[in-house]
Amino acid sequence: MKIRICLGTCCHLMGGSDLYSYFEEHCEKNGRDFELETPSCLDYCNRADYEAPIVEVDGEIYDRVTVEKFKKILEQG
Ligand code: FES
Repeated sequence: MKIRICLGTCCHLMGGSDLYSYFEEHCEKNGRDFELETPSCLDYCNRADYEAPIVEVDGEIYDRVTVEKFKKILEQG
């Protein structure tokens, strides 16, 4: 599973770093095959139809990602 957690300014201020912390604490050591990137902007924060924080999972974009939403996305994958 390829995960990109945006840590750009908009996403960081809206909780992107909480998603990263959650990933570090709960996902990296559970044996699943994760590939993580933390880009500085995924170019969705400037689009009217998306709201930070943004996460991309296997090419699919998710916005307004809370830790709870992130958890569900990872469970589905
Ligand atoms: S800062 Fe996250 S999409 Fe731009």
